[in-house]
Amino acid sequence: MKIAILPGDGIGTEIMAEAVKVLAVLDLKFETETALVGGAAYEAHGHPLPDSTLNLAKAADAVLFGAVGDWKYDKLERQFRPEQAILGLRKHLGLFANFRPAICYEQLTHASSLKPELVAGLDILIIRELTGDIYFGQPRGRRVAIDGHFPGAEEAFDTMRYSKPEIERIAHVAFQAARRRNKKVTSVDKANVLETFQFWKDVVTEVHAQYPDVALEHMYVDNAAMQLVKAPKAFDVVVTGNMFGDILSDEAAMLTGSIGMLPSASLDKSNKGLYEPSHGSAPDIAGQGVANPLATILSAAMMLRYTLNQPEAADRIESAVKAVLSAGLRTGDIWSEGTQRVGTRAMGDAVLAALSGKTITTTTTG
Ligand code: IPM
Ligand code: MG
Repeated sequence: MKIAILPGDGIGTEIMAEAVKVLAVLDLKFETETALVGGAAYEAHGHPLPDSTLNLAKAADAVLFGAVGDWKYDKLERQFRPEQAILGLRKHLGLFANFRPAICYEQLTHASSLKPELVAGLDILIIRELTGDIYFGQPRGRRVAIDGHFPGAEEAFDTMRYSKPEIERIAHVAFQAARRRNKKVTSVDKANVLETFQFWKDVVTEVHAQYPDVALEHMYVDNAAMQLVKAPKAFDVVVTGNMFGDILSDEAAMLTGSIGMLPSASLDKSNKGLYEPSHGSAPDIAGQGVANPLATILSAAMMLRYTLNQPEAADRIESAVKAVLSAGLRTGDIWSEGTQRVGTRAMGDAVLAALSGKTITTTTTG
């Protein structure tokens, strides 16, 4: 088994170092190989996803990804921007199924901006289709308008599209995931306006016939955005397209008050996957040793569970993270009165200590 380690930019390298430490202590049999990605790869090789990195990712059994991006690349031509690395990996590796759990840890209920009773015990799973929709639809570009409100004016356009097999396969993923949970799927669409999403709704309904044991509801995306903050616990599995999933998964992450805690998985048809924290590269705090490494550590746990077939090791990591939270350790993003503020490395060390059954005590902040 081989794991490609792609730390990326900003806090990516700091949080990845902690996840690698945790994996190393588990004494499992796999090799790791590290490569540059995003802005770091652009600086070194002139491209955010160099062939060497892409080939490593293709050859590996799983990819552990940190984060990419920095404002300083915003002016680059689109193809050279760090975000293209993650889009390219999704496309070239066929990672169509994106799992974004939003779990509110009991110890962090008060970190949410919603009332504690609305989020206590929250455990929902957003399944976002990741290789289709308006993100990848062709044609796209700029041109001179030949019709519309301003013929002759400069305009830009993208194409929203989904084929039937693309919708079918993500629907199967969602129904199967729901079977392992509370057996309810909410399919989010905009069927009242968009042809693409009327089709989405029809196809999801058709696939549902094979899953009579799972409840299916349909919801318009604007209403879903509202229900997520009104009664988030009413959801179990949410399945939606690439763009709506991008937006709703950030909203759902924030319900837990701690995007720094949330892992994600992007899987292909044979469960090979790329695992990454749900948060970004946070260039504003990069290099300070204060970023929360737990989302990356939990992404490594997801990798062990979904791709590397090591559920016990995944359980051990997840329990260690809970133990560290129960001991009152917090990075700045989840800190509250009465808890102990620690830095990135101390947080990683505490997870290691918990894994080896030691009592967690630390007074360092770095
Ligand atoms: C995400 C990010 C990416 C996306 C960007 C960085 C391309 O927002 O993973 O949610 O839009 O998919
Ligand atoms: Mg996003």
